[in-house]
Amino acid sequence: MPDPIRIQFVCLGNICRSPLAKAVFRDKVETNGLSEHFEIASSGTSNYHIGDPADQRMRKTAKRNGHSLEDHRSSQFQAEDLETFDHIFVMDKSNLNDVLHLDENDEYGGKVRLFREFDPEPDDYQVPDPYHGGREGFENVYDIVNRTSDAILHRLVEEHGLAEHLDEVESGSAGERG
Ligand code: 4NP
Repeated sequence: MPDPIRIQFVCLGNICRSPLAKAVFRDKVETNGLSEHFEIASSGTSNYHIGDPADQRMRKTAKRNGHSLEDHRSSQFQAEDLETFDHIFVMDKSNLNDVLHLDENDEYGGKVRLFREFDPEPDDYQVPDPYHGGREGFENVYDIVNRTSDAILHRLVEEHGLAEHLDEVESGSAGERG
């Protein structure tokens, strides 16, 4: 068994956007029978919420859409993560700046991408921060995260030659072989 593909999702507080992305992506990986091929993490660039559970509003949004954030505890992105992880997906341009700032010798920039680079409807390439807004903002983040996670999984399955390991699934673009 080759090393798993190590993926990390990063936002500011690690209580809203990146915990959702981790849960949604993890569930898609599981549905496709690929769990043993992935190691999936999330973190925040700030230290604001270290140790906290996910935001209550995001937990509700996740639950309404069939995912659970109940086990999540917030952690902060570390410079060492740049070496450890193969793909680091950041939610907005401020996260991108903060993560690249930790790359002191300019070694790892190629691993760090805006999450919405893979969104078929990328808008401004950023996942809007829902923290100071209403419920609609959380649902919007869910829609973005859901379709973009499909696209990222599809891309990684191709890039890492995992298509032969896919379970047969009835729906979900990541499961299509065409
Ligand atoms: P997240 O959202 O980065 O998606 O987890 C936020 C959470 C907390 C804060 C800002 C954004 N905050 O300012 O505490």
